Amino acid sequence: MRLDRFISETTGLSRKESAKVVQSGEVTVDGSVQKKGAFQVPEHAEVIWGGEQLEVLGPVYLMINKPLGCVCANHDSAHMTVFAHLDIPISDKLHTVGRLDLDTSGLLLITDDGKWSHRITSPKKKCPKVYHAWVSEPLIEDNIKAFAEGLELTGETTLTAPAVLEIINEREALVHVHEGRYHQVRRMFAAVGNNVEKLHREQVGELKLDPDLTPGDYRFLTAEEVALF
Ligand code: URA
Repeated sequence: MRLDRFISETTGLSRKESAKVVQSGEVTVDGSVQKKGAFQVPEHAEVIWGGEQLEVLGPVYLMINKPLGCVCANHDSAHMTVFAHLDIPISDKLHTVGRLDLDTSGLLLITDDGKWSHRITSPKKKCPKVYHAWVSEPLIEDNIKAFAEGLELTGETTLTAPAVLEIINEREALVHVHEGRYHQVRRMFAAVGNNVEKLHREQVGELKLDPDLTPGDYRFLTAEEVALF
């Protein structure tokens, strides 16, 4: 790989900024200053900039406990993005696996592996997701049947796929869905005359949110967790 590209991929600097850093003699490769952006970095070379050794990361897979008030986008002019919580130089190359609303918290997966995220988000895969919902009106047994039979969401012509509603108490429930329609869970409750006050995703497929992660915390997935999808 060219040295300017190597710098860009390991630091998050643009190619132009990386070329400047190289030209100004700030980078050493295996102990020698290297000023040519086109220089081919040998495998296992020791590349140092600003006193730090730079290393190309392999594919990145992580889970974050998404806090309220941030958006699942790489850039946003109005709100903080979920990537602002990551201390990773290449965060511009990452994407969220699906999205959670601004006012939804919980398990969010982030990666740079498009094939992996496609396996989770593709409607054909029917990957189940579990949400914990707190609602304003009392939940009733009939709601379980309505969620199982499919609901008509405002502005849509097809019913939602069968979903499981597990009532925890009068105003709390777990919802298991495998679709990913816009604001789906909130709209499902609206379809039965209720209103979601708080929504938190607990699980995607077999993967549960790590209880040690407080809102805004993240960790890399283990190889076993990556292999779940
Ligand atoms: N359903 C919603 O309504 N919001 C989310 O963020 C996810 C699912």
